[in-house]
Amino acid sequence: MKTAICYYSRHHGNTRKVLEAMAEVGEIDLIDVTTRQAVRLEHYDCIGFASGIYGFTFQKAVVEFARQYLPCGKPVFFVYTYGGAKGSGAKVVQEIAREKNCPVLGEFSCKGYDTFGPFKLTGGIAKGHPDEQDLEHARRFYLTLMEHENRGVQK
Ligand SMILES: Cc1cc2nc3c(=O)[nH]c(=O)nc-3n(C[C@H](O)[C@H](O)[C@H](O)COP(=O)(O)O)c2cc1C
Repeated sequence: MKTAICYYSRHHGNTRKVLEAMAEVGEIDLIDVTTRQAVRLEHYDCIGFASGIYGFTFQKAVVEFARQYLPCGKPVFFVYTYGGAKGSGAKVVQEIAREKNCPVLGEFSCKGYDTFGPFKLTGGIAKGHPDEQDLEHARRFYLTLMEHENRGVQK
């Protein structure tokens, strides 16, 4: 199962840390949506979209990437990190997946160190996250996802 995860991670690289943990246990290409101008996602079995939560939602560039490049019918999953209030989380990319008839395999989220705005004055929130336990949950999430997908393919 070859997977691509298209992501945006800038604040503290929290989301990227989670994705790197997943990439340790699977065949995953990590695609930074700010550096890749174009991509062919048809060649992958499964696509992830990942972002920090900024202003209660996914970063715009990831959403636009999904709108432009996600092939119809391709299985997808979502990953995000947030400081304390995830708001609508992955809802906007879920909506794009629905419009493109893409089966949604699941969603993983965890806290990520946040020093945005006033939080900076007090040393930030969700300090130390993602921590080793978060990363282990992320690895397990991906492995479970792949187990289900492989079982589906074998049927
Ligand atoms: C501009 C900005 C806006 C943010 N908005 C939210 C928010 O609405 N809710 C929340 O829980 N965290 C918010 N955060 C915190 C980030 O979601 C959190 O730190 C996340 O782990 C950042 O991911 P990254 O390091 O991969 O960029 C915000 C951070 C920044 C810089």
